[in-house]
Amino acid sequence: MSEMTAHPLRIVIPGGSGQVGRMLAEHFQERGHHVTVLTRGPYTARWPTVHWDGRTLGPWVETLEGADVCIHLSGRNINCRYTARNRRELHDSRIGPTRLLHEAFALIEHPPRVWMNASAATIYRHTLDRAMDEATGEQGGNEPISRRRRAPEKWNWTVELTKAWEEAFFSTPTPWTRKIALRTSLVMSPARGSVFAVLSYLVRAGLGGTQGNGRQMVAWMHERDYARALEFLIAHEEIEGPVNLAAPYPLPNREFMAALREAWDVPNGLWAPAAALQIGMFILRTEPELVLKSRYVTPGRLLQAGFEFEFPRWPEAAADLVRQWRQRNA
Ligand SMILES: NC(=O)c1ccc[n+]([C@@H]2O[C@H](COP(=O)([O-])OP(=O)(O)OC[C@H]3O[C@@H](n4cnc5c(N)ncnc54)[C@H](OP(=O)(O)O)[C@@H]3O)[C@@H](O)[C@H]2O)c1
Repeated sequence: MSEMTAHPLRIVIPGGSGQVGRMLAEHFQERGHHVTVLTRGPYTARWPTVHWDGRTLGPWVETLEGADVCIHLSGRNINCRYTARNRRELHDSRIGPTRLLHEAFALIEHPPRVWMNASAATIYRHTLDRAMDEATGEQGGNEPISRRRRAPEKWNWTVELTKAWEEAFFSTPTPWTRKIALRTSLVMSPARGSVFAVLSYLVRAGLGGTQGNGRQMVAWMHERDYARALEFLIAHEEIEGPVNLAAPYPLPNREFMAALREAWDVPNGLWAPAAALQIGMFILRTEPELVLKSRYVTPGRLLQAGFEFEFPRWPEAAADLVRQWRQRNA
């Protein structure tokens, strides 16, 4: 059993079949809690899964009756081109299930006491000059990104998407349920398909140099701290509203990539200037925003409340993730 409670909790994770959900389910199950994942499935797991379509009410609503915690993670993966069709899916797969869960919460007699909904650190503006915490951070939208340029339309679009997502989450009151929007930075995990796996692949192929001008800040969090932070938020009943999920020391892309090369023991990596990234990301069917936008995001509320990070700094986190990767793939 974890420190967060003396008795096992019932934790329901809609959209929990992805990278973050699997990691959380494993974490909570290992600590003796009862995890149920809502999935459009099918999907095989070591914990119970229940079918939902993310659009309509159904028997799945019963899983929330009397549960302690709901952690909602649904959303089409952001790692794609922002075409009109993908934009619609990115939007509807986040806001639709969030609204649907509100309908479900209104139907049940004993709704979960805590509801954490995924959100993203990208809600803050591109910035190089000062850290964005929950109290003083400024949300993005058409902000200047250099002397002559303003944030591109696609960056503004993801900010608006995240604002709409939080609006859908907070605008309907849930009198019996405390709500937290998880403003999540890059969750670093040795799992296949994760951001860490993709960047590590680039490093090992000799392509893991600085991206863009390398001054843009990278906000990141080790997956173990992510799971521990959620436990902490469950236990701290005074915390509600938006919470930044990021390590306390974000760092410039140049240093971030250098530390990752060091962790893999790869001395050099090819520099990828912004123009090359535009082409490369187009070929990879994704968007350069994911590496070029400066996310200078810090965990103000977690630190204030006394959360202690196991991995506050990237070089140690990267070394740990590489070690885990090698163990898994030995
Ligand atoms: N990973 C990160 O570093 C990171 C950073 C910032 C924010 N986030 C946010 O945190 C959440 C979880 O991240 P993740 O990395 O675990 O994402 P993921 O691996 O892409 O998983 C998201 C889950 O959402 C469900 N889903 C996908 N399309 C859907 C749709 N059209 N309707 C309903 N459900 C749909 C899928 O579950 P089923 O197919 O089983 O239904 C999928 O397993 C996401 O909302 C993401 O935007 C993640």
